Parts: sequence; C-alpha cells; structure tokens
Amino acid sequence: MLYSEKVMDHFQHPRNVGKMEDADGVGEVGNAKCGDIMKMYIKVDDKDVITDVKFNTFGCGSAIASSSMATEMIKGKPITEAIKLSNQAVVEALDGLPAHKLHCSVLAEEAVKAAVDDYYTKKGVKPKVQE
Ligand code: FES
Repeated sequence: MLYSEKVMDHFQHPRNVGKMEDADGVGEVGNAKCGDIMKMYIKVDDKDVITDVKFNTFGCGSAIASSSMATEMIKGKPITEAIKLSNQAVVEALDGLPAHKLHCSVLAEEAVKAAVDDYYTKKGVKPKVQE
C-alpha cells in the first residue's frame, strides 16, 4: 500500500484543524512547485510552552497528514523543542511517506518554524529559527 494507516488516519481525521484568532505566532508557507499552502498558528504561555496549535492546509493529502501530525508533536512542548522538529521526524511518526511526497512533510516543518519565527519577532526576540 502506498500510504501507511497513520497517514490515512491523519488525512481523513486531521487533528487541530482551524484558525486561531489570538495566536502568538502565525506561519504561512507554500511550495511553489505544487502550489500547496500551509498555515500554522501557535499559542504560547509565559514559560515558552506551546499550549495550543491549529493549522489550515490547502494542499494534498500528505501535506494535511504531515501538518496534522506536526501539530500533535509540538503541542505541549517548549518552543525550543518545536523549532527542532524535522520533516524526517514527522515522516517517521507517520510510518513513512512515498518518496515523491516527502516535500509535503518539509512544508510542515517549515510552517512550524515560520510560526515560531513570527512568535519571536512579535516578542521582539531575535529569531532563533536559523539552520
Ligand atoms: Fe505539494 Fe503535497 S504535493 S505539499
């Protein structure tokens, strides 16, 4: 089978879908090739812990599954851990993605980083989201 059960599950029942009006950080990224867009919202408490995450993905099933999984992986985590989330970790958590769909998970990593970046910028802290 092309897609793992976990991918199908997160694609059919994505977690944390939606908008967040009072987000502390918002990141929007897109892939120029396929045209898919992902928007990620994070809520962060005064201890720099991510208390809530929401996402909207206008894209393929793998992008939806990747962003859904990514939100679950960073929710409740310190922001310093969230910026380390790699697309490989997302792919592993999904029990794999077909090779031609790996870029969809990269979008999830980038969306999280963009949201964290925005959070730091809003706080007036120098963004730490640099490779
Ligand atoms: Fe572009 Fe999946 S095909 S994000």
